[in-house]
Amino acid sequence: MADTTIMVIHGPNLDRLGVREPGIYGSQTLDSINALIEQEARALDVAVEIHQTNHEGEIVSLIWDAADRCDGLVINPAAYTHYSIAIRDAIAGSGLPAIEVHLSNIHAREEFRRQSVIAPVARGQISGLGPLGYVLALRALVSLARD
Ligand code: DQA
Repeated sequence: MADTTIMVIHGPNLDRLGVREPGIYGSQTLDSINALIEQEARALDVAVEIHQTNHEGEIVSLIWDAADRCDGLVINPAAYTHYSIAIRDAIAGSGLPAIEVHLSNIHAREEFRRQSVIAPVARGQISGLGPLGYVLALRALVSLARD
């Protein structure tokens, strides 16, 4: 599987993890979550490319870049989850298996967070498990690719 590459995309405001509403998102920084993802990738013998951006169009471009070069996508679209048809269309168009990850349980929060426009085009969604969600998403993609 060393020839398998998974792209991980963290959306807006996730660069502030650790200081941003720690009661909801936990105390781990994005760097420490990324270290966890890289550790799991080594264990699974896959390559990961990790990106964070606060810009919707950049996420769209990253997804199309992944479509050409990668085998799967782990994405936390953050607030864009709830309304970005552009990101949804890019995922659908890319044909890549994508796992949508949320640190918090979006279904147990405000009404507007319960809807994901991404979920219908994702292979699956992991919500509410904190940083572990990224690790499980990576495992799921590798396991699905081996099927
Ligand atoms: C989030 C949930 C979103 O509703 C929110 O806008 C985020 C983070 C999560 O990881 O729990 O920024 O995607």
